[in-house]
Amino acid sequence: NHTSYPGWQSVGWGPGELFHFSESESSFLCFLLSSSCLQNYIPPESLTLSCPVCRQTSILPEKGVCALQNNFFITNLMEVLQREPECSRPEACSVLESVSAAAAGKPLCCPNHEGKVMEFYCESCETAMCLECTEGEHREHVTVPLRDVVEQHKAALKTQLDAIHSRLPQLTAAIDLVTEISRQLNERKNEAVTEISNTFEELERALHQRKTALITDLENICSAKQKVLQAQLSSLLQGKEHIQSSCSFTEQALSHGSATEVLLVQKQMSERVIALARHDFPERPHQNAHLDCQVETEGLRRSIQNLGVLLTTGAVAHTSVATGEGLRHAATGQHHTITVTTKDKDGELVRTGNAVLKAEIASVDGNRAAETEISDNKNGTYEVGYTLRTEGEYTFSLLLYGQPIRGSPFRLRAVKPSDVPQSPDDVKRRVKSPSGTGGHIRQKAVRRPSSMYSTTKKKENPIEDELIYRVGSRGREKGEFTNLQGISASSNGRVVVADSNNQCIQIFSNDGQFKMRFGVRGRSPGQLQRPTGVTVDMNGDIVVADYDNRWVSIFSSDGKFKNKIGAGRLMGPKGVAVDKNGHIITVDNKACCVFIFQSNGKLVTKFGGRGTSDRQFAGPHFVAVNNKNEIVVTDFHNHSVKVYSADGEFLFKFGSHGEGNGQFNAPTGVAVDANGNIIVADWGNSRIQVFDSTGSFLSYINTSADPLYGPQGLALTSDGHVAVADSGNHCFKVYRYLQ
Ligand SMILES: *[C@@H]1O[C@H](CO)[C@@H](O)[C@H](O)[C@H]1NC(C)=O
Ligand SMILES: *[C@@H]1O[C@H](CO)[C@@H](O)[C@H](O)[C@H]1NC(C)=O
Ligand SMILES: *[C@@H]1O[C@H](CO)[C@@H](O)[C@H](O)[C@H]1NC(C)=O
Repeated sequence: NHTSYPGWQSVGWGPGELFHFSESESSFLCFLLSSSCLQNYIPPESLTLSCPVCRQTSILPEKGVCALQNNFFITNLMEVLQREPECSRPEACSVLESVSAAAAGKPLCCPNHEGKVMEFYCESCETAMCLECTEGEHREHVTVPLRDVVEQHKAALKTQLDAIHSRLPQLTAAIDLVTEISRQLNERKNEAVTEISNTFEELERALHQRKTALITDLENICSAKQKVLQAQLSSLLQGKEHIQSSCSFTEQALSHGSATEVLLVQKQMSERVIALARHDFPERPHQNAHLDCQVETEGLRRSIQNLGVLLTTGAVAHTSVATGEGLRHAATGQHHTITVTTKDKDGELVRTGNAVLKAEIASVDGNRAAETEISDNKNGTYEVGYTLRTEGEYTFSLLLYGQPIRGSPFRLRAVKPSDVPQSPDDVKRRVKSPSGTGGHIRQKAVRRPSSMYSTTKKKENPIEDELIYRVGSRGREKGEFTNLQGISASSNGRVVVADSNNQCIQIFSNDGQFKMRFGVRGRSPGQLQRPTGVTVDMNGDIVVADYDNRWVSIFSSDGKFKNKIGAGRLMGPKGVAVDKNGHIITVDNKACCVFIFQSNGKLVTKFGGRGTSDRQFAGPHFVAVNNKNEIVVTDFHNHSVKVYSADGEFLFKFGSHGEGNGQFNAPTGVAVDANGNIIVADWGNSRIQVFDSTGSFLSYINTSADPLYGPQGLALTSDGHVAVADSGNHCFKVYRYLQ
């Protein structure tokens, strides 16, 4: 069954034998192996098999070689041709030839009816046969002309061949690229070896020079000192000689000389002896013997031990990513930075610096448009900064080792600063989530000027996407918001919004008309300090998760305070939902826990904790309950959505970090429709994704005309639309949602 195990097909000529579809030829036999040979060739636990001829690796069935299925049609042809060598093609002795014969349409002989040509094919038995066979055991079966079947098989094979053929150019390119990288790697290595040799030879020369210089200096100092000492010595020796000769002369004259002689020399001798006695000989040394050499080598040795570092990383371009608003949007004259995070082939973070990264911003005509500066954080991340002078469209390429990183080149649009509503920092601060994110996860959408929308009344969508209307702008008045977070909908056609910085709850009709608001800022029961999550229970009561008061407040539908629950247990509740049993489920964002309470406040159970395991969270935000009463939690920092049974048993999760379909950059709001489909607000990617009940990606809600900016809470209205808290734009939006 070659569709399940690409490239391989078994023929039943001998037990479990294989042939291999060759990609390089249109003829489809590459080689044959007997199964015993195959079993020797492949260890029993092996999952794959490489073709010894063309080296292609194929995946084996779970049970190994013997589980490869027979193709009975070909089996049959083989059998015929093997058993009847004396038939019409006695030379057809090799399987290769037989199959080509079949393919070429040459007649085949029937093994059961001598001299009869196999012209028919029984579909139910998958076997070829002659006319006589069709009247025998196959009488009841549907038979068709063999030629048609062969043609069908050929056509099917041809289609499959074409499909793999079309992959060849890509593979060739990949082979060239990898070969080139391998060649370059060797070249770099050889260059580095030369570099090391040259550097060390130079160092050796420098060492030698220093040695010579030291010895020369030593010689010079020594000979200078010696000169002084020698001069002193010779004058001392001279003095000594004078004294000795004067002494011996005078002594001789005294003991052997005549009186006349003594008198004659007396004067002369006496003067000389007196002079010698008074002479000041240089008796104290004019120099010292100090001449040592001290070579401090400890530091040098240490330096030598650490001399030279090898710079390399495992980073590859196709997994490395860039983040930052400045990737796609810039304000002219302002400096922007984006962050590149390098990763290895498995997507693991590379934690060392020095990767070769190039950044280029080009205008549409291909000219360089801005200088880019790259700073290496030495931990695998790099900051790329630039400033654009003129408005327009640009391409922003980021090349790691000459290859484009994921998503590169990016389309970058520069606008005048006056067209950008807030500075990026302002936006980042405003959109910051209660858990203090906003650092490494940045926004990429820009918002449209809100002036095109009125403040308190809803406005129809002027541009075509799925938007039905939006309500609100930044402010403190009715129908205005400052960092709205949670949103919910009641069965009686209301949309309820938690306005976290204005410490109030605002209520609208399903078509966006402002109805009422309530809420007083404060830390007493019934007051609000930072309402972040909101839901409406079965009685129409409004349940509010109050982040800073650390409890959940319950209000009647007209805003009268009824009760508070979870005080003393909760650290920072954010999302809140009510299940079919009337249990109140709240996500404690700070404690990374999910709490389940009875409506009277009695704790039913809790689960979670900070971490990355299935029953832990790295920053849970919102929660929804599906039609099976299961609990769906968004894990902001784990970039995933986790699903639990009603009593907290982990069921499954989906999502990973990224910009692709089904990936998240910090998921926030979540809702489940009547069919169990899961709708998720993707905060950092500023979009809304729809998944089926098992977490398979289905679609996006088209928000392109009026982009979201850091969406938070999300709910389904009673008339089947999606309401989302567009926090960065300080409004909520209602979208068509096609189920
Ligand atoms: C890398 O270093 C930069 C600058 O020191 C820092 O802001 C960033 O958080 C670091 N990133 C990681 C992943 O360690
Ligand atoms: C989303 O809506 C815009 C505006 O009508 C349209 O141009 C775009 O093609 C739509 N995108 C998708 C994926 O349907
Ligand atoms: C998310 O959790 C999974 C395990 O559930 C873990 O392997 C992964 O590293 C986590 N991702 C992040 C970004 O924390």
